[in-house]
Amino acid sequence: MPFTLPDLPYDRQALAPHMSAETLEFHHGKHHKAYVDKTNALVADKGQSGASLAEVIRAARDGGDKALFNNAGQLWNHNFFWQCLAPAAEGRAPDGRLARLIEEGFGTREAMLARLKEEAVGHFASGWAWLVLDRGSLRITSLHDGDTPVAHEGMQPLFTLDVWEHAYYIDYRNARPAFADAVLGNLVNWDFVARNLDGRGLERADEAGEATPAEVAEALG
Ligand SMILES: [Fe+2]
Repeated sequence: MPFTLPDLPYDRQALAPHMSAETLEFHHGKHHKAYVDKTNALVADKGQSGASLAEVIRAARDGGDKALFNNAGQLWNHNFFWQCLAPAAEGRAPDGRLARLIEEGFGTREAMLARLKEEAVGHFASGWAWLVLDRGSLRITSLHDGDTPVAHEGMQPLFTLDVWEHAYYIDYRNARPAFADAVLGNLVNWDFVARNLDGRGLERADEAGEATPAEVAEALG
């Protein structure tokens, strides 16, 4: 099949106690996997095998295909999300250009994280809170359901927090604020955030959608 579930960049136990192994087993192993499988099935149905994940998302947006847009968007969003996190012991403070941008935009790292938490907690129902680079400055926003920066021209993603209930219900029940505090306070992979200042964050969660000639032929019927 064209798209695959990327391995987590750490062990399932590595984010505990802020995010348990059971949460990763379900969130990555079941929910993220389901987006991969549904996207592959829909792509095969439409004869799009071989297109990259970003191409599939934009084509679904332009064609008004909500099922494919949401599943492919969720696949990309999760590919990006896992890279945004790191075990607490490896967490580093932002420095260099990222530290300067945080200071310019928010004053302090704590103020920026408080604003990100506010966006995450205030987002109605399912979606994602985003830290993005917008015309050289940091900006915090959120997107609904499976919507993704891939579908918004010029939106350069730096960091995201998944605020779908499946992200926190096992560890925090309905307490989204406690989940946001734990992740933002302990698990942010600042190295990944800083790397995305090069404007290539979109590529870091893309997938090539390589298909064998037999798969393409099968998809095309
Ligand atoms: Fe999720």
